[in-house]
Amino acid sequence: MDYLETQLKKLAKETFLSLKKAKGKEELENFRITYLGRKGALTSILRRVKDLPLEERKISGKRANDLKRQLEESLKVRLSQLGKKREVEKFDITLPGIKPESGHLHPITLITNEIREIFQELGFEMVAGPEIETEYYNFEALNFPPEHPARDAFDSFYLAPDTLLRSHTSPVQIRVMERRKPPLRIITVGRCYRRDAIDASHFPVFHQIEGLMVGEGISFSHLKGVLTYFLQKIFSPDIRIRFLPSYFPFTEPSAEVSISCIFCKGVGCSSCGRSGWIEILGAGMVNPIVLRKVKYDPEKFTGFAFGMGIERIAMLKYKISDIRLFWENDLRFLEQF
Ligand code: DAH
Repeated sequence: MDYLETQLKKLAKETFLSLKKAKGKEELENFRITYLGRKGALTSILRRVKDLPLEERKISGKRANDLKRQLEESLKVRLSQLGKKREVEKFDITLPGIKPESGHLHPITLITNEIREIFQELGFEMVAGPEIETEYYNFEALNFPPEHPARDAFDSFYLAPDTLLRSHTSPVQIRVMERRKPPLRIITVGRCYRRDAIDASHFPVFHQIEGLMVGEGISFSHLKGVLTYFLQKIFSPDIRIRFLPSYFPFTEPSAEVSISCIFCKGVGCSSCGRSGWIEILGAGMVNPIVLRKVKYDPEKFTGFAFGMGIERIAMLKYKISDIRLFWENDLRFLEQF
């Protein structure tokens, strides 16, 4: 008798462990066959119970039947859990998926890429310069003598007496010419800083693109050709270009360049102040004084330069009315590009 009791105890422990381990429908069915099946371990014990003396039959018989019921119950629970799990895993593969949100390039990046491509087509090489400049590169080498009134137009952020955040990209012209010999054809794009009060068209940080071409026999007509090609490509082939005399210390002669208004086609509207023209950039022939500063011979070499605000071009092209939108990171704005 003791022997059967021991067997039952052992079986209880064994079944508990193997039921815990059994995974999936097949393994649970194996478990049922091993212990509860017609030839199963528990079934054969139960069969032997009837041969025991009455007293022992009562005790061991009850114990064996209890174990049987317990195992059947646990098995049922495990099988029902399996069913539930399968239901959760069921999904409708014909449903349309959820599209992952993709990022957008900032409009300033987009327009910069577009501008760069146009100039690269024309053989201009992209170069970079520092945003922290010395007075020499930002002003002096560009023929703004100390106390020159034109310095006032560039109300700069000074970091130290001789160090400032560049107020335009023109100093890159000097850095490139100092390093290289002509002929050269470069553009540079980057951030500039001015102490401007913030409003719909001014922000203390903005982007400029600057171009420079120097070589033998470079004339104003080359400047006109390059800028006309660029402006018609970036805006539209049917715009007209106007050059008016202007002044910059580093160019002589200098020009203020306008395009016919892209909104009213030059008729006159509120966007162009009823003039039909929109001023878009500054340009000119590199001043011989500047060429001499970088040790180029102005008798041998001539060149042209131009500079423009990227925000202004983006605002016109994408019809953006407020420059602050570029800096606010409002997704409702950014997602449109
Ligand atoms: N640096 C000028 C500015 O920030 C723009 C400019 C004008 C650049 C004429 C040039 C140029 O290269 O030739 O207002």
